[in-house]
Amino acid sequence: MDSSTSYFVLAFAFFFLTSSASLTASGGKHNVLDYGAKPDGRTDSSKAFLATWEQACRSTKPTTIYVPPSKFLLPKVAFRGPCKNNATSIRIDGTLVAPSDYRVLGEQWIFFENVNGVSIFGGILDGRGIGLWTCKNSSKNCPTGATSLGFTKSKNIVIMGLTSLNSQMFHIVINGCQKVRMQGLRISASYRSPNTDGIHVQLSDGVTILNTKIKTGDDCVSIGAGTTDLRIENVLCGPGHGISIGSLGKDLEEPGVQNVTVKNVTLTDSQNGLRIKSWGRPSNGFAKDILFQHVVMTNVQNPIVIDQNYCPDNKDCPGQVEQASGIKISNLTYKDIHGTSATQVAVKFDCSKKHPCTGIRLEDVKLTYRNRLAYALCRNVDGITASGSVQPQSCL
Ligand SMILES: *[C@@H]1O[C@H](CO)[C@@H](O)[C@H](O)[C@H]1NC(C)=O
Ligand SMILES: *[C@@H]1O[C@H](CO)[C@@H](O)[C@H](O)[C@H]1NC(C)=O
Ligand SMILES: *[C@@H]1O[C@H](CO)[C@@H](O)[C@H](O)[C@H]1NC(C)=O
Ligand SMILES: *[C@@H]1O[C@H](CO)[C@@H](O)[C@H](O)[C@H]1NC(C)=O
Ligand SMILES: *[C@@H]1O[C@H](CO)[C@@H](O)[C@H](O)[C@H]1NC(C)=O
Repeated sequence: MDSSTSYFVLAFAFFFLTSSASLTASGGKHNVLDYGAKPDGRTDSSKAFLATWEQACRSTKPTTIYVPPSKFLLPKVAFRGPCKNNATSIRIDGTLVAPSDYRVLGEQWIFFENVNGVSIFGGILDGRGIGLWTCKNSSKNCPTGATSLGFTKSKNIVIMGLTSLNSQMFHIVINGCQKVRMQGLRISASYRSPNTDGIHVQLSDGVTILNTKIKTGDDCVSIGAGTTDLRIENVLCGPGHGISIGSLGKDLEEPGVQNVTVKNVTLTDSQNGLRIKSWGRPSNGFAKDILFQHVVMTNVQNPIVIDQNYCPDNKDCPGQVEQASGIKISNLTYKDIHGTSATQVAVKFDCSKKHPCTGIRLEDVKLTYRNRLAYALCRNVDGITASGSVQPQSCL
């Protein structure tokens, strides 16, 4: 190589290094196609997605990851932080599909951990859960299945306009997070699909779910221990198992659920409406300061339920040997709740004999059962007040 060529090579290398360094500093837009993603829905693109993430995560300036309108096959991917910036947007115009073999995912499909300031806009996640549901329906030797989208130990998260289809297990899980805003989501799976909860929140503070539509085979939203300052507003749910706080009290030591607001929610053809459930066993957990307001129910089997002896199918439950739930339930308000129950018991408060529920308020509640009288059942309730017109009235 003569000296002019080597000078040229050096100059080129210098140019390349400085320009890639400035790209890193300035953030910018990273298209997954430039990192080798294959828009055919058949070729594993997880390495390309991860490489795109690593580049965005190294940037000290805000960045955007772009997924164009095609199908991308994505086996298990974990996007981990911390990153050098707190503003990464992921704009998805395409569809991410899970592998057809349900055994390869484990318990997480698309998973974020330790990230701050990640926003996802748009996108369709197709979990292809049908194979696993069928397996679970006919055999005991099936894997648990994967959550389609999970955030753990993360904060300042936005998920907007995302569609999640046919998850194997839960669609979305928020675990150990602060400030998460989910808006304009569409979540859909068969009403017969097992454990396909729409959104599960636990150990998290400041989660908001807005303008979202959920049809699925299990809870629309399930709220686990350690959830505080949760707001659910303008949500359509059903079919599914409704909005559930719990199951609480699985552990002896458990953080409580506090300050939950559920407003302007419509439940249609769901198994439950507004439910709080705990296992019948000792625990220091609690659920308090909860407001349910402006709720419309249509053909809901159990519109309003507190079940502190929760034990589905009456088998293998923690504490089943005739123990009382340690979970303390207090300060609940049900206000402006209307609609139809599919069973005669429209309101059921079955509280703990050790810690009766306290401070339950009902205001303007009207639930009917096929134009006949609906019933309310109360056990271990200490202090219930009704105002406005409340129906059913039987134990109030
Ligand atoms: C990201 O936010 C955390 C606090 O939430 C802060 O400590 C950190 O310095 C921020 N990082 C950047 C790169 O802005
Ligand atoms: C499970 O089996 C039952 C009874 O055979 C059937 O009605 C249901 O549709 C099946 N569910 C799934 C998800 O295959
Ligand atoms: C309750 O949660 C909301 C967010 O849903 C928050 O704005 C409000 O400050 C919280 N209230 C208390 C008393 O912490
Ligand atoms: C109630 O929610 C529905 C959608 O679920 C929405 O169309 C409507 O505007 C909401 N009403 C209010 C007062 O926010
Ligand atoms: C009861 O809960 C409501 C929220 O539903 C809250 O605003 C109020 O402060 C709570 N009351 C007490 C006495 O803690």
